[in-house]
Amino acid sequence: MKEFIENMPKVELHMHVEGSMEAENLWKLAHKNHYEIEYNSIDELKAAYQFNNLTEFIDMYMLGTRVIKSEQDLYDVCMTYFEKCVEQNIRHTEVHCDIRTYVDYGFPADFVINALHAAFIDAEKRYGITGGFMPCFIRHLGNEIAQKDLDLLLPFKDKILAIGLSAVEVGFPPSLFKDTFKKVHDAGIKVIAHAGEEAPADYIWSAIKDINVARIDHGIRCLEDEKLVNYLVETQIPLTVCPYSNVALKIFDNMSQHVLPIMLEKGLNVSIHSDDPAHFNGYLTENMISIAENTSIDKAGIIKMAHNAINGSFASQKRKKELSKELVNYIKK
Ligand code: HPA
Ligand code: ZN
Repeated sequence: MKEFIENMPKVELHMHVEGSMEAENLWKLAHKNHYEIEYNSIDELKAAYQFNNLTEFIDMYMLGTRVIKSEQDLYDVCMTYFEKCVEQNIRHTEVHCDIRTYVDYGFPADFVINALHAAFIDAEKRYGITGGFMPCFIRHLGNEIAQKDLDLLLPFKDKILAIGLSAVEVGFPPSLFKDTFKKVHDAGIKVIAHAGEEAPADYIWSAIKDINVARIDHGIRCLEDEKLVNYLVETQIPLTVCPYSNVALKIFDNMSQHVLPIMLEKGLNVSIHSDDPAHFNGYLTENMISIAENTSIDKAGIIKMAHNAINGSFASQKRKKELSKELVNYIKK
C-alpha cells in the first residue's frame, strides 16, 4: 500500500506556500536576508514548530513570511515545494498564498502574483506540473481589508485560480465577507473558503449560502449537521481534507480518530491534502499513507479520493482527462 501511494500520480488542492518552508530553509533564508529570528539554532526553531490550535499556528506560520524579502525568495520557496512535488508524483497543484501579509510589509500587490506566476510557468516547463494559485482574504483582519485586497487583485484576475478565505476561523464566519465575495463572483472569479475546521457546521452553511463557494477547505465538522451532510452529498461540493493538519491542530488526538472514513462512507466528495506540510509533519504522500495505515480506508478509498481531487480541481477539462487517464493506467498496472 505504501509503495502504491508513493508512486501514484497525485493532485493537491490545499497547500499554503509558506507552510512548506522547512525549518532549515527558513533558517537559511533568515540568515541570507540578515533577518534576526528569535531562535538560536535550527534545532530551537524546529522545536518551536509546535502549537495547540489554529491561532498559535498562524503566529508561527507568519515567521516564514517575515524572512521572505524578494520575489526571488518567494519564487525559490515555491520551487522547493515543486521539487517535493516531483518526488511525490504530484502532477497538478493549486496553492494558497495571501497578498495582504506582503502588502502590509510594504511590498506591492504584484509581489506575490509575479513570484507565483513565474514559479508555475517554470514548474510546468521543467517538471510538467500544472496548477496555479489562490490568494485568500485573511479573515481575522475583517471585511474592509478584504475589500482592499480585492481591489488590488482585480487587475490580476487572469493570473489567479480563485479567491479564498483563510487564517483564524472562529469568530469570523464567511457571512462577514458577503458583499466582498459578491464582487468576486461579479468579476468572474471562483470562490473557495476554509470552513468547518475549528468552527462548527454553521460556518460551512455560511460558506455555501453567503459566499457561494465552489470548494470548501477542510469541512470536517459538517458531520455535526445531518442536513448539511445530505446537502453536501447531493451537490458534491469538494471538501479538501488535511489529516496531519487536523491532528497537529488537535482537532483529533491521533490519526486513528480521524473522521475521513465516515465522510467517505457517507458519499461526501472528499480528498486528501497537506495544508502546511513543513509544520504539520507530512507532505501529501505522508498524509495519504498515514490515513491508509491508521484508519479503515483501503486502496479503493485512496483511489476514489485521488479521482475526487482531479475532478474537484480547477484544471481545464482537457487536463482533467489527462490526469484521470494517467491515474487509471497506473491503477491497471
Ligand atoms: N489554515 C488556515 N489558514 C492558514 C493556514 C491553515 O492551515 N495556513 C496558512 N493560513
Ligand atoms: Zn489551509
